[in-house]
Amino acid sequence: MAKIIQSDRSEEREPGRIARRLAALGITLQSWPAPHDAKVSALLAKQDLSADEREIVLASVDDRFEDLKRHMGYMARDLIVIHEDVPGLGDLLRRFDSVHYHEDDEVRYVLEGSGYFGFVEPDGGQFLLEVAAGDYLNVPARTEHWFEMKQSRRIKAVRYFTDTTGWVPVYTQRVRQFA
Ligand SMILES: [Fe+2]
Repeated sequence: MAKIIQSDRSEEREPGRIARRLAALGITLQSWPAPHDAKVSALLAKQDLSADEREIVLASVDDRFEDLKRHMGYMARDLIVIHEDVPGLGDLLRRFDSVHYHEDDEVRYVLEGSGYFGFVEPDGGQFLLEVAAGDYLNVPARTEHWFEMKQSRRIKAVRYFTDTTGWVPVYTQRVRQFA
């Protein structure tokens, strides 16, 4: 279940208030239970997954993908697996932990682990959204944000794309209020 961490470090866990805060930025957050299949659960508990194993996990949530294709126009999906032994992990995370936007939506369905999205509000304030298994997040194109892992070093999430060429970070040089 997602929660918001505010710049004074206070936390917001009430789903309705979290949804309204995100909706003001055009961001959608939904709670989609992770798959209950025993084989998929065992794969999600592993540190890393082969290409074939990733496809098994993706196939287990393709009913979600079919809905997104029909209603939102998404064309492709993959499974991102981040863990403490990923080669070049520091460089990978540094690409996304500065404030940036994309020309395409950033759409994630977290299946295991956790991570933090940072957002910039219209008044310039900032907050963190902790996402964990079962959270589906749609960050619209051109929305300023960043992503960080903090002490958590593991996440498995489905990424949905309309066009992968649009999904590169455009850095805005805005300074983060969160250290
Ligand atoms: Fe991003």
